[in-house]
Amino acid sequence: MFFKKKPLTQTSTNLTLDHDRIPKHVAIIMDGNGRWAKQQGLPRVAGHQRGMEVVKDITKAASDLGVQALTLYAFSTENWKRPANEVGFLMKLPGRFFDTFVPELNENNVKVQVMGYIDQLPADTQRAVNDAIAQTAQNTGMVLNFALNYGGRAEIITGVQQLAQKVVAGELEASEIDETQITNSLMTAPLGELADPDLLIRTSGEQRLSNFMLWQLAYAEFVFIEQHWPAVTPAVFEQALITYQMRDRRFGGIKENNSDVK
Ligand code: IPE
Ligand code: IPE
Ligand code: MG
Repeated sequence: MFFKKKPLTQTSTNLTLDHDRIPKHVAIIMDGNGRWAKQQGLPRVAGHQRGMEVVKDITKAASDLGVQALTLYAFSTENWKRPANEVGFLMKLPGRFFDTFVPELNENNVKVQVMGYIDQLPADTQRAVNDAIAQTAQNTGMVLNFALNYGGRAEIITGVQQLAQKVVAGELEASEIDETQITNSLMTAPLGELADPDLLIRTSGEQRLSNFMLWQLAYAEFVFIEQHWPAVTPAVFEQALITYQMRDRRFGGIKENNSDVK
């Protein structure tokens, strides 16, 4: 008898979502805005514009499904390399996004947080972000965490520098630096026990991290999907969650019911 070889990336077309096993923290590398726009014969920024609408749809879908934290990679510390007009457009997006979306975030009890080097953003962008944080601070539902001018290596450097300063000041022994100390020095510290994503999704078919959450993703499940971000729908998002639910997370251990080990 011949068995079909298991595909490297398992798809899950016939399965349904188990609502009792929703990943607590989902992180998304929203990629492919530019390529989507080019495919439509539009300028790259049209992809960012459409991508912003998709952020609204996926935020609502994630919140409705019971995701507790949704981290979205919106602008990396490396994205400053792009042409000035594109960077300028991206910097205006938070203002436009929050202007129209904060009431809906409040209706859905969603709290906005931001991680990244916010003080390096244009003043208007900073204001938009800080207003949204303040206007949703009372919400107790899903945390919508934007990574904005964020880079995983820079984040680790900043955190380690803070710890080193504590050592110099005599507040901490070098030997006391452990996983908890590093975790607490990173930009995800405000998420508490939700700091590490359970699931990382990257759109657009690229299979790399591009400097995203290098420490926090140590044991996340990775799901790569072919659609460009502006083409992602709540159904596609749900499919990624189903794929996640097919994975066997072992964290270095073994499966409890592993029949080989008695
Ligand atoms: C993701 O889409 C958005 C940002 C990185 C800001 P891209 O702009 O990277 O789109 P592609 O990958 O060039 O198609
Ligand atoms: C990663 O996408 C950054 C964001 C999604 C914000 P990029 O498009 O910048 O990554 P590379 O250049 O393909 O690695
Ligand atoms: Mg890209």
